[in-house]
Amino acid sequence: MRTNRTILLLFAAITAYYVYLPIPGQVEEKWKLMITDSFFRSLSHLADLCELLGLKDYMGVMMFITVMEKVAPVTDERVQVTEEVFDGVDVVVYEPGQRQVGAGELRRAVIYLHGGGWCLGSSRMEPYDLLARTTVSELNAVVISVEYRLAPEHPFPAPFEDVYRGVKYFLQEHVLAHYSVDPARIAVSGDSAGGNLAAAVAQKLQQDPEQLVALKAQALLYPVLQVLDLNTPSYQQNQDMPILPRTLMVRFWSQYFTSDKTLFHAMMTNSHNSAKSAQLLKFVNWSSYLPESFQGAYRYNAPSLGAAAAEMDNGEEGPSSRPLFPFQAITDPRASPLLAPEGCLRPLPKAYILTCEYDVLRDDGVMYATRLQKAGVNVTHRHYGAGFHGALMFTVWPTEFQIAHRMTADYIAWLRENL
Ligand SMILES: *[C@@H]1O[C@H](CO)[C@@H](O)[C@H](O)[C@H]1NC(C)=O
Ligand SMILES: *[C@@H]1O[C@H](CO)[C@@H](O)[C@H](O)[C@H]1NC(C)=O
Repeated sequence: MRTNRTILLLFAAITAYYVYLPIPGQVEEKWKLMITDSFFRSLSHLADLCELLGLKDYMGVMMFITVMEKVAPVTDERVQVTEEVFDGVDVVVYEPGQRQVGAGELRRAVIYLHGGGWCLGSSRMEPYDLLARTTVSELNAVVISVEYRLAPEHPFPAPFEDVYRGVKYFLQEHVLAHYSVDPARIAVSGDSAGGNLAAAVAQKLQQDPEQLVALKAQALLYPVLQVLDLNTPSYQQNQDMPILPRTLMVRFWSQYFTSDKTLFHAMMTNSHNSAKSAQLLKFVNWSSYLPESFQGAYRYNAPSLGAAAAEMDNGEEGPSSRPLFPFQAITDPRASPLLAPEGCLRPLPKAYILTCEYDVLRDDGVMYATRLQKAGVNVTHRHYGAGFHGALMFTVWPTEFQIAHRMTADYIAWLRENL
């Protein structure tokens, strides 16, 4: 009897220890967030264990969340859904149902890119499916949700190239006409890694001399925007915050480029820069681009150059045939849109940037807002003082958070006004 009670007590203590996480004062629905996060952490530990035992790689196990949340995109009376292939790229097309279409009326369009650290996620996950349906019904718009290939199986630049190919296909006049889309009212949008791809697509389209149809707006929801400095104040402040601890973000970044663990370890200590990438640190210098309120008590230290990185700089591709570090990728603005010089930012479409206080990526978004504004781009920056990374996805029971509904409403309202 006593043994049983001891075991029970021990079990309760372990569970409480596992679930309990100090959550900062401003965050709402703390217990719900703790329980949600304990699920993500348990899965992450299981993934580590599976990888250690050689059963399955880490991301392979984490894919469980994506698979679990998948729904079949179906047509209902408000939204017509079709699965198409745009120049070899899978997309899900959401259109207003028959009853909502006026004859000959041209509609707005939103190209949406899902999050998941370039390694996870799908446009067919329920929260993305719901967001697309909301966008369609609220704005009478067409939504193109792109199902790009994922790292680490398809590392950078494959996810970006899929997205770009799909977008280029859609932006042809005859395709837009087929979907009754107004070529002057098209936006690109995405959350997290999808926000990264959206920002990169907006830049690349602007630089493409053959591109006739231009984007009217970009909406970046807690986007990832740079890999050079993984110790910004927000990375430090939120390193253990749900649901994206710093370790997981570093894992996503390193696996976007390579499965070689050397890069992961160098990124963990923020020593993955080379002499070449160090020249671009000025574009992500948070002591210049973060308002003081975001800098807090943190002092700026430029990221140090790593030993492996220095070695690579000597012989461009290194002694082995396969480069240890993907240097080209680390300095590529298609991976880190914050690395684009001011001349490339100036012609960009107006932007909506959502950031969350309790998010390692907060400063990426804030710095991009500052840099775009300095370049003369019209920026609406919405900062959620109680927000945490991924919040927008929590619109479905049992992980439904009020803040997700407020964020969605504000995002849709901005699109209504600006697209
Ligand atoms: C970052 O900005 C600060 C202040 O603006 C400056 O003193 C420092 O030299 C800059 N460092 C880099 C690496 O750009
Ligand atoms: C920015 O956009 C807002 C809303 O569309 C508009 O009211 C404002 O005049 C614009 N500002 C500039 C500088 O273009």
